[in-house]
Amino acid sequence: MTDDIIAIDGPAGSGKSSVARLLADRLGWSVLDTGAMYRAVTSEALHLGLAPDDTGAVARVAQRSLIETRPRVSINGRDVHDEIRSDVVNVAVSVVAANPAVRAAMVQRQRAIAADEPGGLVVEGRDITTVVFPHARVKVYLTASLDERARRRGEEGGESVARRDHADSSRETSPLRQAEDAIALDTTGLSVDQVVEEIVRCLKNTTSD
Ligand code: DC
Repeated sequence: MTDDIIAIDGPAGSGKSSVARLLADRLGWSVLDTGAMYRAVTSEALHLGLAPDDTGAVARVAQRSLIETRPRVSINGRDVHDEIRSDVVNVAVSVVAANPAVRAAMVQRQRAIAADEPGGLVVEGRDITTVVFPHARVKVYLTASLDERARRRGEEGGESVARRDHADSSRETSPLRQAEDAIALDTTGLSVDQVVEEIVRCLKNTTSD
């Protein structure tokens, strides 16, 4: 298991994916987009004609499916890279991500991926700093104003982002919250580069301790 884990959580549009990718590039580390895993399960459940709230059947999909996130997102060999960003998946994914058995299956896989990782790993999601890797070397909680997050998602008004924030933060199992010892970074008005610089600085501080 790699000890070199940078865990990043935050709401939709806070910049997690872009920051995680650039950060991993800069460090020569791998990156894991855990949202893509929940989205892939959602896409497969819909593909099979399941209702997103059919908890037992959707959990079986999560437990039995082969999910790849790189270089493209696929599930059971079916490329869903673009489809996972569709409106139907956007709507259904909060329901699937609230399913405790789906979460248990995803957390187990995320830890297995880290266990197999020979180098460093940047992992981003909603429960990475609190549940999946609470002992990560650096833990970051990204935020940004609702207006800016909606703008980044190409959305007017922010209703859909706000709805997803609410669903992610109020669910019973592993809700989105800031870990007590996570570094909080408000990315409003900051470039991806600036945020990455700040995280690299935090990482260097951990080595010099
Ligand atoms: O980061 P994203 O928008 O691709 O995430 C998609 C959905 O999955 C979103 O509703 C939050 C949920 N999610 C989660 O519950 N836990 C994670 N570790 C990652 C994403």
